[in-house]
Amino acid sequence: MKITQSTILEKLPSGIFHALASRKQELIKQGVDVIDLSVGSPDLPPSPLVTETIAKYASDPMNYGYTLTGTAEFSEAVSYFYKQRYNVDIIAEKEVLQLMGSQDGLSHLALALVNPGDYVLVPDPGYPIYEASVTIAGAEVYPMPLLEENGFLPVLEDIPAEVLAKAKLMILSYPGNPVPALADRPFFEKVVAFAKEHEILVLHDFAYSELIFDSHPQISFMSVEGAKEVGIEFNSLSKTFNMAGCRIGYAVGNEQAISILAAFKSHIDYGIFLPIQKAAVAALTSDYADLAGRVKIYEHRRDTLIEGLNQSGWQVQSSPATMFVWAKIPEGWTSHDFAFQLLDNAGVAVVPGSAFGNKGEGYVRIALVQPAERLAEAAGRIREFLKAGVGV
Ligand SMILES: Cc1ncc(COP(=O)(O)O)c(C=O)c1O
Repeated sequence: MKITQSTILEKLPSGIFHALASRKQELIKQGVDVIDLSVGSPDLPPSPLVTETIAKYASDPMNYGYTLTGTAEFSEAVSYFYKQRYNVDIIAEKEVLQLMGSQDGLSHLALALVNPGDYVLVPDPGYPIYEASVTIAGAEVYPMPLLEENGFLPVLEDIPAEVLAKAKLMILSYPGNPVPALADRPFFEKVVAFAKEHEILVLHDFAYSELIFDSHPQISFMSVEGAKEVGIEFNSLSKTFNMAGCRIGYAVGNEQAISILAAFKSHIDYGIFLPIQKAAVAALTSDYADLAGRVKIYEHRRDTLIEGLNQSGWQVQSSPATMFVWAKIPEGWTSHDFAFQLLDNAGVAVVPGSAFGNKGEGYVRIALVQPAERLAEAAGRIREFLKAGVGV
């Protein structure tokens, strides 16, 4: 019997990530000491509060049933967190939906909301599930270019009227992945007005809300006047509390959109393991003492890497946020060749910008997921690589 994949699966690009992972594994097997700066998985541990809470509740055999949905306590904890951190009022009963990581919401929102023929406005470059979720839903992607000369913000006026007429959803993320740029309040205000005018729901992905550096303000889209009328925000415990493997996140905001997504999810999952929900509540209602310390760690890592790269003559822009540096590559390379040659010749793994969309060409994404000493070593290896002029 021949088993074939669906046409939708055929349409989903996995090429570059897959090729990069295989090449990395090959090199590791050959004994190469690969410095892996390609995957955005936090390397730092969660606080003892998290591990102790999971251990406590996991030892009770009564906690192993389906939870079906998020607990009321979890929604209240999210509401508390949003008030404390972003001064946003969220009604726990109506405006919070627990997600199995924000990826759960990102991959299902389009399926819950859009129909074939509808457009979804997606940042280019953008986190891959944004576009993939639209393809899975059988709808049309309209890539909004994020260009350096525009501060990596989309130019809303450039979106054609015929696209706007069919657009149902716009996805934004500030600070985002791979582009760590921040949006200011006037931009978000403009987005709210634009969304109202064109009746487009806005999904703001705020997964890196607690990795914002140099005392830049942490602006939740939900804190902008009128945002709840037009939008929802996804957030996560993954990066904020180093709980990525726990798979727990949430959506907040527009009640109608939340209830549509909840209805969709009721068909496909049975809730998150209670000990994880309990640990998330503990983290969300904690004193947040370790958040500032973590920001300092990432700032130091960023500075170490950027200084090291600048010494090589490769002038890379510093990141205002996230666990990524979005580095414009030297002239003469494609981002694919740069990343693969760097891996082969220097044993440093980074992701070619083209993996995130056409406008990612000319950049690579470097994840700050190793200690500063390792990042300094990576910068040293990159210096040697550039000096040798391999492949140019
Ligand atoms: C921008 C962005 N959004 C969402 C996610 C998904 O995170 P999670 O599903 O762990 O909440 C990631 C993960 O790397 C991300 O970079």
